[in-house]
Amino acid sequence: MMQMNQDELKALVGQAALQYVVEGELVGVGTGSTVNKFIDALVAMKGRVRGAVSSSNASTERLKAIGIPVFDANDVGEIAVYIDGADEIDPHGNMIKGGGAALTREKIVAAQSRRFVCIADESKQVPVLGRFPVPVEVIPMAAQRIVRQFAALGGKAKVRLKDGQPLVTDNGQHILDVSGLSISQPLEFESEVNQWPGVITVGVFAHQRAAVCLLGTAGGVKTLEF
Ligand code: A5P
Repeated sequence: MMQMNQDELKALVGQAALQYVVEGELVGVGTGSTVNKFIDALVAMKGRVRGAVSSSNASTERLKAIGIPVFDANDVGEIAVYIDGADEIDPHGNMIKGGGAALTREKIVAAQSRRFVCIADESKQVPVLGRFPVPVEVIPMAAQRIVRQFAALGGKAKVRLKDGQPLVTDNGQHILDVSGLSISQPLEFESEVNQWPGVITVGVFAHQRAAVCLLGTAGGVKTLEF
């Protein structure tokens, strides 16, 4: 196979994810550049899916632009499958997510879905989570207290900025990016940080880990099942 760049690998796994979309049912749609390739591919199934539940305003706009009906999570029950990218994925399907700041809605849609199919290029594969700074969505008034709580765990947390100001999420909150952590116990880590006051969502997806990962590699799409 010819050498492919990262963009082509993303398109390859975006296309491969179509086989997991269940005809006549709902598809949960994540956020990010890999998911954008999936949305491009989903045009081919227009009219054959009931519709989508989206994890961000950005994905909603793209879905609507190609004519896929977008439902509010409150108006539907179980979603057949959730398709999303990741910033890191470990050998058990645990992920770091939130590089695109959409982690809270991503976790909600993932929790409402029967299974999580992760689409990623092979640069996202790691033995242990933590090289990518962990995004955490927080209530702004608790941010500095949470920064100190991470410091006690050996992490360095910074408020994510956009144009010199704290980035404001789709939910009106802020994001901390935490570097310097090595997350060998993702389930425990997620459970602990989740219960700190002011934390809305931690970008470790262990309770909502992937069931399948379609990994774009130089040799084509590799399917990992966890
Ligand atoms: C969005 O908030 C993230 O969780 C994305 O899934 C993640 O950042 C992957 O994005 P790319 O597909 O752009 O790498």
